[in-house]
Amino acid sequence: MNYRYLVVETKDTPKAEDFLTSFELKQYKKFEVPKRAQEWLAGRYAAKKLASEFFTFPMTKMQVKNDRNGAPVLQVEGGNQLTVSISHRGDYAAAAISLTGDLIGIDLEEIEPRPKGWADEYFFKEEIAANTPVYLTELWAKKEAVLKLLQIGLTVPTKEIKIINGNIQFFGKTLDIWALKGSPKIAFETQTLGAYKLVIAYPTVI
Ligand SMILES: CC(C)(COP(=O)(O)OP(=O)(O)OC[C@H]1O[C@@H](n2cnc3c(N)ncnc32)[C@H](O)[C@@H]1OP(=O)(O)O)[C@@H](O)C(=O)NCCC(=O)NCCS
Repeated sequence: MNYRYLVVETKDTPKAEDFLTSFELKQYKKFEVPKRAQEWLAGRYAAKKLASEFFTFPMTKMQVKNDRNGAPVLQVEGGNQLTVSISHRGDYAAAAISLTGDLIGIDLEEIEPRPKGWADEYFFKEEIAANTPVYLTELWAKKEAVLKLLQIGLTVPTKEIKIINGNIQFFGKTLDIWALKGSPKIAFETQTLGAYKLVIAYPTVI
């Protein structure tokens, strides 16, 4: 496995001044909704703490920036960049980094019942092997993790990806983007964290 991930509890996030750069502190202070600020901060903390365990930079010497589509990049002092993915949801924030510069996607979702019709709107019938909150939450998290890996997020419809038994098919614009990224074969790691599902999408070597 050429990636690592870390999950932190949102409540354990240190003070912003202890680990953000001055650029990040300015971003942090612009949030008007405290919950959003806390989630953003916890995501930054997960990403930087994880990176500092593998690369000998203190957290104040690295910063996370989002590109124009929102995809995060972790920059370390000296100009190097690391591929990173971030997710924050309620009690937890999670981050994944690729140790080989490959693409990586992580998503954390709360396991909860969805309204009637939700699954049909976002998934193909063939994908819905079970109509339970656990299964549907994991399927959603898989799609989001793949779309984060491709660095497009939910700018495309979730039906541009079909996942059956872990095999992924792409359609439309998402197929074009996947091809542009070298048509990587993508696998999943999934974890259950209490009431949450965590999914990491990572490229495998064929
Ligand atoms: C990726 C996206 C779906 C976020 O998902 P979410 O479940 O709400 O939130 P998560 O906590 O799991 O992920 C948020 C993180 O995803 C990352 N992210 C955002 N856009 C991304 C992209 N294009 N590619 C990869 N990662 C992305 C960011 O790091 C973000 O955290 P940050 O803003 O603190 O840096 C969303 O930001 C996105 O794509 N938005 C554009 C389209 C949109 O708004 N659609 C709404 C339809 S429901």
